[in-house]
Amino acid sequence: MNVLFISSEVAPFSKTGGLGDVAGALPAALASLGHDVKVITPRYRDMRGAEQLVPTGQSLLLRFPFGELSGPILSARVSERLEVLFLENAFLFGNRHGLYGDAWGAYADNHRRFAYLGVGALQAAQRLRFIPDVVHANDWQAGLSPVALRRGFQAGPLAQAKSVFTIHNLAYQGQFPKDVMGDLGLPWDLFTAHDGLEFHDTVNFLKAGLVFSDALTTVSPTYAKEIQTPEQGYGLEGLLRHRAHRLHGILNGVDTHEWNPEDDAHLPARYGLKDLTGKAVCKRELLARFGLEDGPAPVFGFVSRLAWQKGVDLLLEALPTALHADLRVVGVGSGEGPLEEGLLALQARYPKQVGVHLGFDPALSHLVEAGADFFLMPSRYEPCGLNQMYSLRYGTVPIVRATGGLVDTVEGGLDGNGILFEAFHKSALLAAIRRALALYADPPRLDEFRRRGMEKDFSWGASGRRYEALFHDLMAE
Ligand code: ADP
Ligand code: GLC
Repeated sequence: MNVLFISSEVAPFSKTGGLGDVAGALPAALASLGHDVKVITPRYRDMRGAEQLVPTGQSLLLRFPFGELSGPILSARVSERLEVLFLENAFLFGNRHGLYGDAWGAYADNHRRFAYLGVGALQAAQRLRFIPDVVHANDWQAGLSPVALRRGFQAGPLAQAKSVFTIHNLAYQGQFPKDVMGDLGLPWDLFTAHDGLEFHDTVNFLKAGLVFSDALTTVSPTYAKEIQTPEQGYGLEGLLRHRAHRLHGILNGVDTHEWNPEDDAHLPARYGLKDLTGKAVCKRELLARFGLEDGPAPVFGFVSRLAWQKGVDLLLEALPTALHADLRVVGVGSGEGPLEEGLLALQARYPKQVGVHLGFDPALSHLVEAGADFFLMPSRYEPCGLNQMYSLRYGTVPIVRATGGLVDTVEGGLDGNGILFEAFHKSALLAAIRRALALYADPPRLDEFRRRGMEKDFSWGASGRRYEALFHDLMAE
């Protein structure tokens, strides 16, 4: 079948979080199952691998009440069946550094930028004579694609396609003032209809995706249940319950080429299940990189967007107590100012035990996964989470809060592969760190935990087939 996959970030070209990883790997998994997949994404100014992009000779032209938006379509062929297409536009994407915003906040024209992506993706497919059986839109940035398909904007021969919308994070909804309807020339009835784009008197791009798609998915079975509750539904739980028969929780996989301790170019030494000695080399390098002394103490790592979701504030609350023990903490992250400042203050207070790198650094994130003994993910909520799976593959025992995809991937208990804690509370996190210290003091048991994690199969194979089966079911309807 032909699949058009729409995502605002695609690794390795662009990435701010797990969406980029998934958009890099799931289409490849579908292509390896024999499907033709085109991924559509913006051509940002700062992109890795930009030298691979070639012109397709085709371009987009979208007319809006405020004027026309146009630009070339570029391409990077990844494999015989997989091509990534980039929508270029100097005003929307080419003239700024961030994907979604900068230090001043979200870009004020994000509704135009992602209307260009969502609606433009359908026109781009037509220009390239690619008629998809399934249009797979991801997160609010692609939320207008299912509406456009259903209402026939730029849809043409695509109108027959089935649409699937994946929620990677329900908290980010793409909400805009309602005059955006007029700005984008969207018919007013789309706003006022019972199940329309309106949400608390704003236009909600994520809701558009939820209402107008033939099927909805989210990135873990547990999160699929959680988002149907008021605690995690962000006001959309009623709609999600109403569409529950159309909502599927499909666990993300791991790109096993990118994340493989046996063959990882970012590491000073490689290692695998049979021989873990390279991991100790990585640990020494990690400590040196953060200017921390080598020694027998356990290293606790984290790599994270510094956002409310991730519970970095809980780390800041608990670590001063935990640091009474002989342990090291290394963290890589970027995001909210107060959390960045909090981490720098922690480092200043415990310079011999804490190392922090503020910034987005994929190579360093690999070294943390490999060199740490434990990996911290005290998330408030977590739709899937990828780092805990990377940790398991790298023999680094994850310490995670029991929420969302973390529950579906990490096994607690005496013969598990990780450490789970329930309450989003300092004492619960500290108790988990205490369990980690006890485990570290018992090398044979620690070794078993590591091996059980490393043995687990988190490749995209099974999840790719679940998406494939869903697409087939939709096409048969
Ligand atoms: P989320 O998508 O909510 O941020 P995930 O765990 O699904 O969480 O994915 C995060 C991805 O982004 C992982 O690949 C992680 O390694 C990466 N990442 C997050 N912050 C950084 C950073 N500062 N430097 C490098 N990689 C990062
Ligand atoms: C989101 C979620 C994260 C998930 C990722 C990829 O960013 O926060 O939990 O792993 O999307 O689906």
